[in-house]
This record gives sequence, C-alpha cells and structure tokens, in this order.
Amino acid sequence: MIIDVPSTDIVKIYRTLIEVITPRPIAWVTTIDAEGRINLAPFSFFNAFGANPPVVVFSPGLRRDGTKKDTLRNLEIVPEFVLNAAVEDLAEPMNATSKELPPGQSEAEYAGLALQPSTKVRPPRVAVSPVHMECRVRQIVPIGDGPIAANLVIGEVLLIHIDDSVLDPSGHVDPRKLRTIARLGGDYYCRSTDLFEMKRP
Ligand SMILES: Cc1cc2nc3c(=O)[nH]c(=O)nc-3n(C[C@H](O)[C@H](O)[C@H](O)COP(=O)(O)O)c2cc1C
Repeated sequence: MIIDVPSTDIVKIYRTLIEVITPRPIAWVTTIDAEGRINLAPFSFFNAFGANPPVVVFSPGLRRDGTKKDTLRNLEIVPEFVLNAAVEDLAEPMNATSKELPPGQSEAEYAGLALQPSTKVRPPRVAVSPVHMECRVRQIVPIGDGPIAANLVIGEVLLIHIDDSVLDPSGHVDPRKLRTIARLGGDYYCRSTDLFEMKRP
C-alpha cells in the first residue's frame, strides 16, 4: 500500500500514524484554568527530548470541529502542568479521563481519582500515580489550524516525584515495578513487561 498524503483523507493519515508509530508513551496531564478548576487528560503524542534542561513535548490536537481542547486552552492561561505516570493499575481511570467533559468539569472527579498539591506548580498531582513531573511551559507551537492539527506543548521539567515502591535497590526506576502502559493503533495498548536487554556497541 502507498499513501500519498496530500490526496488522502486526514483521518486516514491520523489512523496510519498512530498504527505505525508505536508504542507511544502516555502523558497524563493535569492543568488548571483561570479559576483554578482542574483538568486531567491523556495524550500519547508525547515524549522527552533532552535532559539539560529536561524537556518534554506533548500535543493536544485541535478537535475535529477545529476548536482547542481544554488542556491547550488552560496552558495558554496558566502555563504549568503535571505529567502523571500512566501505569497498568490505572489504565481504566486514565482512559476515563479522556472523556470530553465541559470546560471546568473535572475528569479526575469523574474518574474517582484523588489529587494532591504539587510543590512548584499550581496544577495538582494524581495521588495514586507513582511518578509526577511538575513542568512549566516554555513554548506552544501550533502546526496548522485545521481539524486534528498539532499544538506542540514544549515543557521544562522542574521537579520529579518518584514513589520508592517503583525503585530497585540501587535507586533506579525498575520497569517491572513501574509497569507503564503505552498506546498502539486503534484501541490497543501494550504493557512494558516483556523486556529484553541489549548493550550498546
Ligand atoms: C491513551 C490516550 C491517548 C490520547 N492521546 C491524545 C493526543 O496525543 N492528542 C490529543 O489531542 N488527544 C489525545 N487523546 C484524546 C484526549 O485525551 C481527549 O480528547 C480529551 O478529552 C482531551 O481533554 P481536554 O479537552 O480536557 O484537554 C488521547 C486519549 C487517550 C485515551
């Protein structure tokens, strides 16, 4: 199969991208609006891109009707967010927080998730998640203005909380304990428990 992008429907292009670029880690993002009302949503167009300073990027796309998602609108007003680790035990509530609730209505409350205050940023953390990264927005880069257009949120990590329960005896995060999940195409996810090791040349 060959897909010529300019002559193909964007939804087909979107589906192909998420089927092929896999597995994708999940940014489970807490933000607040101008009134301090809390928003929580998952984004799998996400990764880390450098460590000095530590930089992460995720992309809340425009909705099919071209409007901005609550996370993006919140970040334009309060440019701070928390990345909560999406782990196997939290798969169902993480998915529940992807529901499109009206602005100002909390997905954390909808999913029955307790929150706890952050240290350096205003948005709170998902209490049961074992890792939280408190971040400040450095830049938001819109790429296009049509349906499903990307908005690259470039954030700097200011503070990292790691629950001791996911550490190995030498203080490294143990993937067998953290058990992050990742996104594939369609409605598929994968676990991070099928590990193999390979030394770099
Ligand atoms: C695992 C998962 C990954 C998702 N990844 C993205 C993404 O990368 N970009 C995006 O715009 N929406 C993504 N979504 C959909 C959003 O979570 C959904 O549109 C959500 O309602 C946005 O919330 P907000 O309007 O409160 O910001 C994803 C949903 C799930 C379940």
